[in-house]
Amino acid sequence: MEFSIAVLPGDGIGPEVTTEAVKVMHAVGRRFNHDFQTEYGRVGGNAIDDFGTPLPTETLNMCLEKDAILFGAVGGPKWDDPRANTRPEDGILALRKNLGLFANLRPVKVYPQLVNSSPLKPEFLKGVDMIILRELTGGLYFAKPKKRWKTTRGRRGVDTLKYTEQEISRILRVGFEMARGRRKRLTSVDKANVLETGRLWREIASEIGSEYPDVELEHILVDAAAMQLLKDPGHYDVIVAENTFGDILTDEASVLSGSMGMQPSASLAGLPSSSKTKTISLYEPIHGSAPDIAGQGISNPIGTILSLAMMLRYSFDLEAEASSIESAVEGVLSEGYRTPDISLDGGETTRTDKLGDVIAGSI
Ligand code: NAD
Ligand code: IPM
Ligand code: MN
Repeated sequence: MEFSIAVLPGDGIGPEVTTEAVKVMHAVGRRFNHDFQTEYGRVGGNAIDDFGTPLPTETLNMCLEKDAILFGAVGGPKWDDPRANTRPEDGILALRKNLGLFANLRPVKVYPQLVNSSPLKPEFLKGVDMIILRELTGGLYFAKPKKRWKTTRGRRGVDTLKYTEQEISRILRVGFEMARGRRKRLTSVDKANVLETGRLWREIASEIGSEYPDVELEHILVDAAAMQLLKDPGHYDVIVAENTFGDILTDEASVLSGSMGMQPSASLAGLPSSSKTKTISLYEPIHGSAPDIAGQGISNPIGTILSLAMMLRYSFDLEAEASSIESAVEGVLSEGYRTPDISLDGGETTRTDKLGDVIAGSI
């Protein structure tokens, strides 16, 4: 079959990790007889430099013609001036909003091979297999007012935490459906003890929960969730959280897997199986542009490669192909290949491109 994919490498390590994922994509194409057509687009800080905007119209239009998007990362110190009127991060935010990608799936899994790469004790990591479902197009990230201004009594700033019933219920429904196909436990995260949006979230979660009697619903406050995620991570199956909470909890949860560089994600406009009309989904690692290691050829491409596997599964329904990538990753980890972020003290390390080669070679 033929598929067309927009590749948006972005800034920092974005181009390094997407190069390896594209290598793996073509290896899958050769083995399973698919034609993966790629077209590259500019996004992020490098697009600000050359086009004055982090998401040029040509990039957005190109994405709209494709079957799916593979995204690297954006941002970096060069564009971090707090007074700048646009930022690289606005590029990914605009893509998510324009494509209606409200459901961000961030699976957290502990590979037995990497138990010793995590700073946590091995006994806490047993059986960890959860999906953190992050609401991606609402909340503090997008609601208005959102601005900074000067007053006679000093500078002020405002961001708005606003959620509609529709935004809350659609993400929770995705969560309940996913839990139904898994271990049937849904943990709804909120800050209902302080925030009105949190109380609305909890109320709606309970209402929808009553339509899913086969799924065990539990509510947890976000601060307690941050603690429990490290104390008893094996307990969790599907966790649903609003945008900001989900952002923070997923970086925290990456510590379980050994590194940010291991974590994939899929951003969808609904449940993968229920979309009757064609939607374009975006696949990206959860990490950023990692300016501290960019350009050194030592970044971990596995999060992006596993994001590609999610693309094959959710956008193209290619289960065997997706599994072949996941097995290849497990295989090379078992053989001991490690980028520095997941290496054991003093152990030998593998460069980004070599790791991509061995994963592609094991497809
Ligand atoms: P980061 O995720 O870029 O890096 C955090 C730490 O994790 C760093 O020490 C980095 O070296 C390490 N790391 C991340 N990915 C890695 C990988 N694949 N292999 C090995 N190590 C890896 O977060 P940050 O430093 O807070 O942010 C840097 C920039 O990235 C900021 O401009 C931020 O806005 C941006 N960012 C972008 C995205 C995105 O494009 N989706 C996501 C997060 C952060
Ligand atoms: C992520 C990132 C982004 C977010 C930034 C770059 C806008 O941290 O994808 O987790 O906060 O959503
Ligand atoms: Mn983040």
